[in-house]
Amino acid sequence: MEVLEAIRTRRSIRRYKTTPVDNKTIELVLEAARWAPSWANSQCWRFIVVRDSNTKAELSNTLSAGNRGADAIGNAPVVIVACAELGKSGYLKGKPPTDKGDYWYMFDVALAMQNLALAAHSLGLGTVYIGSFDAKRAASILEVPQGFCVVSMTPLGYHDQEHEVRPRKEISEIVSYDKYGC
Ligand SMILES: Cc1cc2nc3c(=O)[nH]c(=O)nc-3n(C[C@H](O)[C@H](O)[C@H](O)COP(=O)(O)O)c2cc1C
Repeated sequence: MEVLEAIRTRRSIRRYKTTPVDNKTIELVLEAARWAPSWANSQCWRFIVVRDSNTKAELSNTLSAGNRGADAIGNAPVVIVACAELGKSGYLKGKPPTDKGDYWYMFDVALAMQNLALAAHSLGLGTVYIGSFDAKRAASILEVPQGFCVVSMTPLGYHDQEHEVRPRKEISEIVSYDKYGC
């Protein structure tokens, strides 16, 4: 699938078939994540591929009440949890030189996750970023070590729903020229 087409047609998928996803396909989407750019090429991202039903159920319970992605985390054949090593992205010689501190790890992990989501979409698989959940509880469930945190997760599997197209702001609402608001 051509890149612009993949960007335009990717949708958040919250219902999945039970059809398994083979290891080769998972490797392909992880390969796409691996090639994302990152702060000073620090590659702080780490990914946990979860297939175990009990672990998926536990992760599903970390989602905020009413989160529309909860069933997908519990029921999709695979869940990919994105973690970050702290103190790497956003740092130069051990110090964070920007006003964002070490929050650049969020940026780097997001880039990797978007690569993963677009690659998954090009292979006919669905994803949905999950951000509203108890990341500390998820880290405990997954035994994520100190110095790392859980950032986001996504179910991965074959769609079992029509794509709902969410609207986007017009270019004129989000782009200025030369100065903000112009
Ligand atoms: C940072 C981030 C966090 C999100 N968290 C959740 C979430 O917790 N639960 C959920 O169902 N969708 C979540 N989403 C999916 C958004 O609701 C979705 O991307 C948005 O409505 C646009 O729809 P689309 O992805 O189909 O284009 C999240 C998306 C992003 C980028």
